[in-house]
Amino acid sequence: MEIEIAQSYGFCFGVKRAIKIAEEHPGSSTLGPLIHNNMEIERLKRDFNVSLATNLDDIGAGQATVIRTHGIPKNDLKKLKEKGGEVIDATCPFVTKPQQIVEKMSEEGYDIVIFGDANHPEIKGVMSYATGPVYAVLNVEELKTISLKERVAVVAQTTRKIEEYNKIINYLVPHHKEVRVFNTICNATFENQDAARELARRADVMIVIGGKQSSNTKQLHTICREYCPDSYHIESKDELKKEWFEGKKLCGVTAGASTPEWIIEEIIGKIREFKV
Ligand code: F3S
Repeated sequence: MEIEIAQSYGFCFGVKRAIKIAEEHPGSSTLGPLIHNNMEIERLKRDFNVSLATNLDDIGAGQATVIRTHGIPKNDLKKLKEKGGEVIDATCPFVTKPQQIVEKMSEEGYDIVIFGDANHPEIKGVMSYATGPVYAVLNVEELKTISLKERVAVVAQTTRKIEEYNKIINYLVPHHKEVRVFNTICNATFENQDAARELARRADVMIVIGGKQSSNTKQLHTICREYCPDSYHIESKDELKKEWFEGKKLCGVTAGASTPEWIIEEIIGKIREFKV
């Protein structure tokens, strides 16, 4: 069986930048996981003593803290600064952008619609910048249950699919006098998605590597499954099963934006060991 890696996969600019920042600050803490990949977070702990604080109370006075790629709520940032330690911002610039848009448009009196998951840390952070009404929705059905003013501004979670975002926009435009649309979907996501789609069309089996909590990896898996029903989302080599590959000619491999190269290599190595 041949193994082919997608043309674009794995670490994005924002994750590379955050890891570099964390490595440059040994002994610091991160408030929440720096990126959505447990194995990489364990490596940062082991090699750089970068610890994980699950909430603000875990951060002692004067402790240097790195802010995760997904950003944190505005109020948490304020409390963190009050603790007196150095605050190092590793929020991805593509996440800072919707935070700023939401703050500005909200101050200008627009109701804010965010296409995204209200429980995701990125969206919790982005929502916190609104000073007026703000709603996170996952589909048009949810949007229909909300009563919005005539002026609406809309942003998307960075990892969402553009086709789904278009449905939200297409619903909003005819229903409101003014709709300000901001394309806040990240290019790294597009590139990995396009490459995964292209490969999944040809592959007999697709392996999608990334954290189980990682939104962009889940999106990649959904896309791959559309074109290649035998698509599996795994986090480590231990989840691989030999029978997935039996009788297959081409195995495609892709990985989410917070998956380090060393995990991808381990997984490809194990697939080769199956000798199918
Ligand atoms: Fe940033 Fe896009 Fe990566 S939002 S963290 S560059 S997937």
